[in-house]
Parts: sequence; C-alpha cells; structure tokens
Amino acid sequence: MCGIVGYIGEVNAKEILLKGLEKLEYRGYDSAGIALYDTSAQVVNVFKEKGRIATLRESIPSNMDGTAGIGHTRWATHGVPNKRNAHPHRSADGRFTLVHNGVIENYEILKNQYFANHSFTSDTDTEVIVELIAHFVQEGMEVEAAFRKGLSQLKGSYAIALIDSENPQLIYVAKAKSPLLVGVGNNCNVVASDAMAMLQVTDQFLEIMDKEIVLVTPNDVTIKTLQGDIVERAPYTAEIDASDIEKGTYPHFMLKEIDEQPGVIRNIIREYQDQDGNILVDEAIRSAIADADRINIIACGTSYHAGLVGKQMIENLAQIPVEVHLASEFSYNMPLLTKKPLFLFISQSGETADSRAVLVRVKELGYPALTLTNVSGSTISREADYTMLLHAGPEIAVASTKAYTAQIAVLAILAVDSARGKGMNPSFDLARELGLVANAMDVLCHAKEDFEAIATEFLATTRNAFFIGRSVDYYVVLEAALKLKEISYIQAEGFAGGELKHGTIALIEEGTPVVALSTQEGTNLNIRGNVKEVVARGANACVIASKGLEMDGDRFIIPRVHELFTPLASIVPMQLIAYYAALHRGCDVDKPRNLAKSVTVE
Ligand code: F6R
Repeated sequence: MCGIVGYIGEVNAKEILLKGLEKLEYRGYDSAGIALYDTSAQVVNVFKEKGRIATLRESIPSNMDGTAGIGHTRWATHGVPNKRNAHPHRSADGRFTLVHNGVIENYEILKNQYFANHSFTSDTDTEVIVELIAHFVQEGMEVEAAFRKGLSQLKGSYAIALIDSENPQLIYVAKAKSPLLVGVGNNCNVVASDAMAMLQVTDQFLEIMDKEIVLVTPNDVTIKTLQGDIVERAPYTAEIDASDIEKGTYPHFMLKEIDEQPGVIRNIIREYQDQDGNILVDEAIRSAIADADRINIIACGTSYHAGLVGKQMIENLAQIPVEVHLASEFSYNMPLLTKKPLFLFISQSGETADSRAVLVRVKELGYPALTLTNVSGSTISREADYTMLLHAGPEIAVASTKAYTAQIAVLAILAVDSARGKGMNPSFDLARELGLVANAMDVLCHAKEDFEAIATEFLATTRNAFFIGRSVDYYVVLEAALKLKEISYIQAEGFAGGELKHGTIALIEEGTPVVALSTQEGTNLNIRGNVKEVVARGANACVIASKGLEMDGDRFIIPRVHELFTPLASIVPMQLIAYYAALHRGCDVDKPRNLAKSVTVE
C-alpha cells in the first residue's frame, strides 16, 4: 500500500528517494512521485507519474537535484490512479508540499467547513490536509502550530511528510495508525514507511507513535506530542540483511521466497527450541494461554488461512477451543465472547489495518492479545501484550508464501508448548518432525519442472479452476486458490470436497480444472470419491497426494510428513503451480494488479 520516503542532508536526494521508493514497490502501488528542493533555484519541484517508478525516473530531468525531498508510492483509495491524484500534493499557494499514506475519513466535512469555494485539483482525501495547513499559516499561525492544528482536525489514519518551500531545511512528519519511521544518519536524516527503504542511508531508526509529530532537519530529529511536549526516544538498529531484500539470481521474489521456506522452518526450530529439546516460549505467553478458556485468532487473507491450520493443531494437541475470525468481519459483527478469551493476531506485516482495528477494540475491552508477526516493532506487535516473531526474513513478493509456512510452524510450536503446559506431551519430537517437513520442502522445491508442467497442462488457458480438499486439506486449498487467483487472475475457488455437490458442482463442465489434495488418511477415500464426482461431469482432475495415500493416476506425490504438519509441505506445490500459471500468462508475478503488500487501510 502507499509508501513514503524522505531525505534531508547533504547529498543527492533524488537518487536516494527513487531508490527508496523502489524498495517500497513490493507494497503495491499504481503511481509515484517525488518533491525535491532545488537548492540553486530555491524552489520545490514536484514530479509524479501514473504507473511504475521507472516511468517517474524517466520524467525527471537528469540535471534536477536537491538535498531535501519527499517521495510517495500511491495505492489508490480516493480517486482513480492517475497523475493528478498521485502524490506529492501542493497547497494552492504553492508553499507546502505533502505526501500522505492512510485515509482521512472526514475529508469531505473538512472541505465543506474550510474550503467551500476552493476548487481542488485532485480527487484525493490528501489534498485537504495540505490546504488545511496552508490555511492556518495564512491565518497567521507559525508553521509548526499550523501543522499540529491541521492534524488535530483529521479523523482516520495518516502518515505524513511535509516540506515548506520557505524553510526547506526541515521536514515535518506525523503519523496516526499508518506506519512511519524516522532514520538517523550522518549529517542527514530520513523518513520511511519501512526501514528497508532507507537502509541505503542508515540502520538507525526511531519509532514514531500515533499522534506525535517529528521535526526532521539534516542534523536533528525532534519528536513532540500533538500538544507540543518534547518526547525523548532512542533509535533502534534495524536488523535487516540488505541481501534479503535483493532478488539475487532469481527472476522473481516469489520464487526466491518459495525456495527459502525449508531454511525458514529450520530457522524457526533454532529460534524456538534449545539443544535439550525445550521449547522457548515466554512464560508470560504461556500463562496467558493457560488462563484462556478460548483462543480467538484474528487475521486476514493468507494469514487467516494459516490461522485455520493453527486452530486444528491447537485444538488437536492442546485441547483448547479456538475460533478463527476474519478481522474485517470481527470488528463489525463481534461474536459472543467467553469469559477469558485470548486474542491471537496473525499478521505477516504487523500493519494490517483490519487486524489492528480489532486489536484496538480488544484492548479497550481489556482482553490479552498475542501477535504472531514477521516484523518486530510493527504496530500490531507493539500494541499487543505479547509477540512471537516468524523469523522468515523480509517477504517482498505481494503473494505471501514463506510467511504463511512460518506462521503455521510457529503455531505448531505454540500448540505443542501449550499441550506440554497442560501435561499432554505429544508423542512426537517436534524439532524432528519440523526438520522432516523442511526436508520435504527441499524435495518439493527441486520438483519445479513437475509443477510447471501441471500449470501448463491444467491452467494455461482456463478462465476458472477449483481446488478441493477435506479436513486440513480444505484449509490448504483455500490458500492454494488465493495464491492462484491473486497472481494469475484465474478465477479460483477453494472448496471442501464434500460440499461441492451442494451447489458448486453445477459449475463443473468439460475441461474445468480441479486440483484435489489428499494428505489425510481419514479422508483419502472421501476426497477420491469427490474427484470421481467431478470427473464424471467432465472435470480435468489433477490429484496431489501424500506418499502412502497415492493411487493410480495421481499427478504428484508429496513426501510423507506428520499428518498434523502436512499443510507446511502440501502448500509448496500449490505455490509453485500458481507461480508458473501466472508466469506463463504473462502476469507481473511479484506485483499483481490492484494488490498491496501491507494493507494499511480498513
Ligand atoms: C496474500 C496475502 C494477503 C495477506 C493479508 C494479510 O498472498 O499476502 O492475503 O495475507 O493481506 O496481511 P498480513 O499478514 O500482513 O496481516
């Protein structure tokens, strides 16, 4: 979703801003722009374009430079993606230039209240912010006071960076609900939605809390509350390996991240188990789980699918009732809660607005919250009582792969640890079983040609596809269908095998691709029956089964792993099939249309 960068210092800001924006491309965007203070002409120049950063780069004259600037990638919410709506936005008097991430819910009210006769140049909710600040300055306020007063009028979410052309040695920064960091460099300082964008300048970052403002000059960073009180805060070191955010020899981040999964699982074992086989989970988390009469998992998209698998593992191993909720539904349709619920938020990015909205509500109600996230220091991590990290390394491709398997692996650890806490020691060695999963993933990652062949045979020209499974395989096929549709734009549905005959089977016609997954002994024969039902109606069936459950005609056999952990292995073929289907259809695999990596609006 929208990304912000800013630089103020001594060197070429243009390149730093453009490189920073390129690092934020993974978040998803449809237009981009930068504002640069031209030191010799003493003006702020704005460049913006619809489409890719490469297009923006081409539009900027090569001799254009400056030592201060702000940049933005936009993911359209208010107004179509075009140059007019792209950021930065400038006040009508030309003095202030601003970039914004988030949604201003009361922008229409503010427009009517303050600017009834003003004609805005864009359809965005953002333009009103920059006009508001200019308006208060025109009324005689100092810029900082006008900035604070402008912010105090806003309802909704924002991360903002603002340049005043009359004082270009200062970037005004603020945030509420949307992510934003300030980086501390040598004779320069930076602003970024994500530390990754500015690792080129520094690895020292300062968190900004909601409703704070930050005054950033080349040699100083001052954090203040909206009331004007100074806040002291030490920077932290962003522990991101720069090579983790490069593709290396891979054609796409998605393929690299699929291949990283065996390593991620091994890493998770190392992080969460000591040499003596003791699971390393904080005592505070253990007691929160022990005290809970029910766990409510809250998540969106792929993380929700991981939550479904987690429910199965936790209920099975630790006998704790678990409900899994879509965050965007929970906020507006809250179920009856038990007396002592624990809320478990699953979010790769830790910034998803839908999940965060539930967290805010849960904290208001006084319930404990644990976050599983890949990003330490992310909002949903900071605001929950406890955090467990995924240790998957940065995930850049929009389609989540290694974060999904990392989420399931950490949920497996939590399930086994909770079972042990209740005196129900599972009969298997968790580290060994997860090690076997990692080995199986290695085998699957080396079978790319098979999955490419399946994609070619079943998905090359189809408009739709079905994925069916039963029991935990049903949860996996939900994720398989999501992977395929988001990157290949094939309409795909994940379905419980037994449910097809209750309506959906009407959609099966000659040649409809149906991918069936069978990894569970208890449902192997049932799913086979469902495959027969669709084949009888003309479907082109592709069965992927676990070793030991295979039958004649199966298209691929997955190495056998513990039945509870099959989702970790069985998703790999599905990810690769989706990848090759998208590749062969000429889709932009890492940056699918309309999607954003970090969904920071509700
Ligand atoms: C799909 C995908 C999304 C995310 C969802 C939640 O590949 O990545 O469905 O899973 O937007 O994001 P997080 O996990 O960051 O809260």
